[in-house]
Amino acid sequence: MPHIFDATICSLSLALGADEVTLLRTVELVHLHYSPAATPMTARCCKEALLASSPPDPPPRPFLFPRWTNQLREISALVGVFGLVYAVIVVGWTFSPETSAIGYEPDQPVPYSHRLHAGELGIDCRYCHNTVEKTARASLPPAATCMNCHSTIRTQSEALAPVRAAYEDGEPLRWVRIHDLPDFVYFNHSAHLNAGIGCVHCHGRVDRMEVVSQRKPLTMGWCLGCHRNPRPFLGPRSETTNLAWAPDQGSFDPEALIAAYDLTPSTDCSTCHR
Ligand code: HEC
Ligand code: HEC
Ligand code: HEC
Ligand code: HEC
Ligand code: HEC
Repeated sequence: MPHIFDATICSLSLALGADEVTLLRTVELVHLHYSPAATPMTARCCKEALLASSPPDPPPRPFLFPRWTNQLREISALVGVFGLVYAVIVVGWTFSPETSAIGYEPDQPVPYSHRLHAGELGIDCRYCHNTVEKTARASLPPAATCMNCHSTIRTQSEALAPVRAAYEDGEPLRWVRIHDLPDFVYFNHSAHLNAGIGCVHCHGRVDRMEVVSQRKPLTMGWCLGCHRNPRPFLGPRSETTNLAWAPDQGSFDPEALIAAYDLTPSTDCSTCHR
């Protein structure tokens, strides 16, 4: 799909006589605002299209294009019109919550409740996700972590049978992943927690969720929005797992944190695509 999309944007722009700068600007705008997909592809495609459309420099001897090429402008304009219709469809599709997976809430092997454990019982996120401040990934707890309590609490519970079985067999519990970026994206939890970005900004009020679901789009545009201006999301490192934390209006100064933590979030492609 992105290939057709790219080709149509290119031909539309070329038909309108756009130069390279306008063309790449248009492509960037379309992609960043409507569909972050396939930017390099578009850039490559446009370069090819430009190369194909610019006259060979300097031609060794005059070259006559076949007569049918006179129709090229009309043809590409026509392709452009279809491209526009196509773009509208793609834009609608990109914004539908289904494609950004917001609300994705799979069935889990155990009806574990964050609302109960992290909310009511007040267990800190790092008790179970104990690598979140040190590594790229936030680990999921082994059955042994659950058994710290459940070897004495609710020992006969039917709901906890898979936990007891996993603990005895030394097998991991097979939790279904909820948040999952494509493989070509690099993400790092520790970098964000050390920068004072709390879990709540990317995962919502997990401490109120009976079943965790994805609450943010996790798209490139969403990542970049914060990398361009993280100020509204900054807080002290000590409060990153306190999902209810909010800045004290008036006395809180994000600039002080930016200086203290030496923050310069990058928007270079290589930051997230390595
Ligand atoms: C007692 C252990 C425990 C505590 C405390 C805990 N979690 Fe979890 N967390 C889990 C388990 C088990 C799963 C996997 C099952 C599920 O998704 O509910 C999980 C899953 C998640 C997921 C979804 C992971 C995915 O697959 O994408 C997020 C996000 C999350 N936890 C955030 C938090 C936050 C934020 C806190 C603190 C407010 C927290 N957790 C506290 C045990 C815990
Ligand atoms: C710090 C202690 C503690 C830890 C660690 C803990 N739990 Fe719990 N869990 C509790 C308490 C307390 C209850 C509520 C018991 C009650 O309602 O009587 C509970 C209740 C539950 C229930 C409901 C049981 C039922 O029969 O209704 C499930 C399911 C559960 N926990 C799963 C887990 C899983 C899975 C883990 C590990 C990821 C875990 N718990 C870790 C303390 C803990
Ligand atoms: C800047 C945004 C951001 C912050 C802050 C953040 N997360 Fe995540 N989290 C993500 C993204 C994005 C993923 C999916 C990562 C992937 O697919 O590679 C994720 C995945 C997870 C997972 C699944 C395992 C994994 O690492 O892929 C857990 C568990 C989790 N987060 C817990 C937490 C907890 C607990 C906190 C706070 C202590 C937290 N996250 C803070 C964005 C964030
Ligand atoms: C709520 C704000 C926020 C969101 C959302 C966010 N980031 Fe960041 N990100 C930051 C800040 C702040 C830093 C730290 C910059 C620094 O240390 O100078 C950072 C740093 C990073 C780094 C650098 C890690 C390193 O090794 O140096 C990567 C990679 C990154 N973010 C990827 C992502 C991706 C991918 C997403 C979207 C899935 C994302 N971020 C979403 C605020 C955010
Ligand atoms: C802060 C992190 C971040 C930065 C910086 C970033 N990207 Fe991305 N990019 C992402 C994420 C996250 C996705 C996955 C979005 C999704 O699945 O909707 C993505 C997706 C893409 C895709 C989509 C591929 C596909 O198959 O749909 C392309 C192409 C891309 N990025 C190119 C770029 C280029 C070019 C740059 C530099 C101008 C860049 N990215 C900078 C985070 C980033």
